[in-house]
Amino acid sequence: MRITLRIILSIFIVISVIVVLFTVLQVQQEKERMTIDLERRASVLGESLKENIEPLVAKGQAQRLQTIVEKFGNRERLTGVAVYNAQDKLVAATVRLAPHLKTPLPLVGRVMSADQEEGTFFLMDGKEIYLYALPLYREENVAGALVLFYETQHIKDRVALIWESNFIRLLVSALFISLTTLLVIRWSMVHPIARMAEWMKSLRTDKEGTPLPPPPGKVFEPLAREATRMVKSIFEARSAAEQEARLRRKGETFWTPARLREHVRNLLRGRPLFVISNREPYVHEKRGKKVESVVPASGLVTALEPILQACGGTWVAHGSGDADREVVDEKDQVRVPPEDPQYILKRVWLTKEEEEGYYYGFANEGIWPLCHIAHTRPIFRAEDWNYYEAVNWKFALATLEELESSQDPWILVQDYHFALLPRMIKEKRPDARVALFWHIPWPNPESFGICPWQREILQGMLGADLIGFHVQFHCNNFLETVDRVLESRIDWENFTVGRENHLTQVKPFPISIASPAPASFAQPLNGGLKKTLLRELGIQGEYLGVGVDRVDYTKGLRERFLAIERFLEKYPPYQGMFTFVELGAPSRTHIKEYRDLMAQVEAEAERINWRFQTKEWKPIVFLKGHHSHKEIAPFYEAADLCLVTSLHDGMNLVAKEFIGAKGDDSGVLILSQFTGASRELKDALIVNPYDTEQMAEAIRTALEMDPEERRARMQRMREGLKERNIYRWAGDLISSLSQIRLSSVPPLGISAPYNSSKLNNLPGGG
Ligand code: G6P
Repeated sequence: MRITLRIILSIFIVISVIVVLFTVLQVQQEKERMTIDLERRASVLGESLKENIEPLVAKGQAQRLQTIVEKFGNRERLTGVAVYNAQDKLVAATVRLAPHLKTPLPLVGRVMSADQEEGTFFLMDGKEIYLYALPLYREENVAGALVLFYETQHIKDRVALIWESNFIRLLVSALFISLTTLLVIRWSMVHPIARMAEWMKSLRTDKEGTPLPPPPGKVFEPLAREATRMVKSIFEARSAAEQEARLRRKGETFWTPARLREHVRNLLRGRPLFVISNREPYVHEKRGKKVESVVPASGLVTALEPILQACGGTWVAHGSGDADREVVDEKDQVRVPPEDPQYILKRVWLTKEEEEGYYYGFANEGIWPLCHIAHTRPIFRAEDWNYYEAVNWKFALATLEELESSQDPWILVQDYHFALLPRMIKEKRPDARVALFWHIPWPNPESFGICPWQREILQGMLGADLIGFHVQFHCNNFLETVDRVLESRIDWENFTVGRENHLTQVKPFPISIASPAPASFAQPLNGGLKKTLLRELGIQGEYLGVGVDRVDYTKGLRERFLAIERFLEKYPPYQGMFTFVELGAPSRTHIKEYRDLMAQVEAEAERINWRFQTKEWKPIVFLKGHHSHKEIAPFYEAADLCLVTSLHDGMNLVAKEFIGAKGDDSGVLILSQFTGASRELKDALIVNPYDTEQMAEAIRTALEMDPEERRARMQRMREGLKERNIYRWAGDLISSLSQIRLSSVPPLGISAPYNSSKLNNLPGGG
């Protein structure tokens, strides 16, 4: 049965039941009302008749009684009147009635013995009659009874009328309700569902992967959202499969999520994969009454998230969002990404003191400036070191707890926050394969040598089976540092460090982004988008430059602004034409150095703007704040150039993201020679960020570059990126880890006991 018919039939049945119930009630009330009315009439008539009849009954004057009875017996609705004596015998009755009163009426006896008037319904010759009897007296004694007979046809007629009119009402309202339901179903369900189906079909069959906007209407919004996601994953799977097939045909070996998944599955063979990092991939924040998840500005997250999405596993990280605790289960776990869960995020909680000492203190005021040669002095405090060690233990214990039920786990430890963690894990779980990837540069041994805890840091790191850096140069620096500081066997041919029985392989793995956006040959430089972005910023101009950074002293932001100033000074025709937009995410602002830097950078932009700006143009737009990938993408797409001017950087993924976004092969990358990325992206304009003149020239070269050369450079860099993407990075890292001969680390005297007492002994720790 069709749904519409089913709905209408159900409505009809429900209405009918309601109408019948109400009619029964109404009929009952009406009957009661009419009976009371009849009784009242009978009582009035009976009382007035009684006065005339009582003396005649006493005297036995039957003839006169008959005359009176006949006289009154033809009143409205009255069928007749009868009089009985004290012996229950009929004394007089109206003519029409008499033949029916041959048998005594039980009512008469009842009324006389009860000395009480009474009315009742009575069936006479198949007709319902209403009888009303009242006692007659002689000297206060009951001497007979007067009975009035009323016809009841008018009650029956009234009841029939009620049923009839209610039935008609039922039919009319059922008809209207059915019609309205029919229309509502058509307008708000059948029609939108048909449109929805059409839209979903267009999604499914659209080869471009650019879905049409969903049909309007709030009701279907959640459905449209889910369908869009589903189609997106179908597209991704389909394009991955197509790409795979294409590559197989061409005999090429590009890495895709599907290939990585297969590769990792083959190597892991059911063993669990763990990632440990300080920064979590999703931070849950309160926004009014709602909880939102935010992806933090972090190169590490940009790189690792696609791997976990492709392979699944557990990511252990610091729960830093103010709503993080609200969304985890009793094991402090939450499945992410929130809109399409693929892996587990296990959160570790830190006290304020731990965060202060371990993260802000030792990691970011100590190791960060120590490893980046950016002329900011590292600060080493013994208390920070204690917290650093304690928090490394805290993460190690949380991870060991997760590992309890698994055999031969594979663990990817991330970055300078966890130099001690590889050894802590390895000592307790020799069956674990542990890799440590160091996302920042490693300085020369002289620079590193100023760290009071360099031995402990190196011993901790060498607990790993594999240590990765972005570039070979950092691997060399690391091995030289180990050579200077620790008793060890270094094999310079195979890049391994041997200490007692344990061997650590040291290798470069240049990190990257997922995959460049597909080429869009039909669409040349995205001029329309550029105009829109500039207009939204209230700027009239021709050329757009972009920079995307965490505001950090290693990123060379002031140097970049000075170069823009010099460029405009040297080439005045570009004044009013070239605008640089910096998307700067505030970072580590708890540290004074970073707060001061933010103020300096803003002041510098302000100074340069003041010098050059006109009513409708300014050279630098500093957009301070966290920007999502979605918000950044249009700037990358529209920009004529991107400035990456780090004073020192492990890799710098912004450089790769910019290239990745250039589907039309437009734009020029200006890249600092002190980034890891500069070793790969040879077609960028490589600059020394300390050389203002050179950078100003690079901006001009970028803007005036022959379009053919520009396209060729971008194409070559995009080809390189396609080949060296993040899936290959992960594939190489995991392959290298799989090839390692497992060896256990001997326990170190200085290592903390395997319990949390060390944490509890610290102020605020635990
Ligand atoms: C660098 C580090 C990453 C870190 C990122 C953001 O890229 O190598 O480990 O995630 O900076 O820094 P944050 O302190 O905000 O995590």
